[in-house]
Amino acid sequence: NGRTPLIAGNWKMNLDHLQSIAFVQKLAWTLKDARHDTGDVEVAVFPPFTDLRSVQTLVNSDDLPIAFGGQDLSEHDSGAYTGEISGAFLKALDARYVIIGHSERRQYHGETDEQIAAKLTAAHRHGLVPIVCVGETAEDLETHGPSAVPVAQLRIALGGASKGQEVVVAYEPVWAIGSGQAATSEQAQQVAAALRAVVAEVLGDEAAAATRILYGGSVKASNIAGFMREADVDGALVGGASLLLDEFSSIVRFRQ
Ligand code: G3H
Repeated sequence: NGRTPLIAGNWKMNLDHLQSIAFVQKLAWTLKDARHDTGDVEVAVFPPFTDLRSVQTLVNSDDLPIAFGGQDLSEHDSGAYTGEISGAFLKALDARYVIIGHSERRQYHGETDEQIAAKLTAAHRHGLVPIVCVGETAEDLETHGPSAVPVAQLRIALGGASKGQEVVVAYEPVWAIGSGQAATSEQAQQVAAALRAVVAEVLGDEAAAATRILYGGSVKASNIAGFMREADVDGALVGGASLLLDEFSSIVRFRQ
């Protein structure tokens, strides 16, 4: 289908400064040893903001085959927004991606679909590729079935997209995050196909064919291959397993 798989490691609020640097360095060695080609599978890490500069320096100075991005951004460009990080700040650190609307942001910081749409606009305004997260809770699943909530979330979020600019979608069922209880690959495929239809509806068929849709929620080395065999799943957004070097490298090398 021409879409390069993307394996993204969301570190959340984990790994201290020294651990972050050591992790990126070792991951790069492991990938180099495995003759990793980013044209085959793209790898991206999402450190806390305070470690982005160090990761940038390491990646740029050694020309490492690893992309990186922020875990969130402000919908505003500058101003009196204490504690916020703008798209311009991320772009200045050579970030390629930014995660938007993670369920933990929705749950603990009250982010709404409309705010997530505004963040998507901000990401595009600064030339960042947004990874837009959507997903249903266990309660949503019971009440509305598998696709209704993620589809509705994505439709609103994509209202903030600029036509012709890249978007990555991450389907993360909230019940699967950090629970050890991943969705089945069939469940992931069913929702991913519904999400691709939303991309087609809002951004057109060409964008839908090019957009990568990731699955996230208890992804590990032992279940990644199943997800990657599905037609509409183009990668993974990995949390817990992205903090473990061997586990994460095996996920990246899911084809072997
Ligand atoms: O962003 C990553 C997800 O929240 C998945 O986390 O792999 O620990 O379940 P997890």
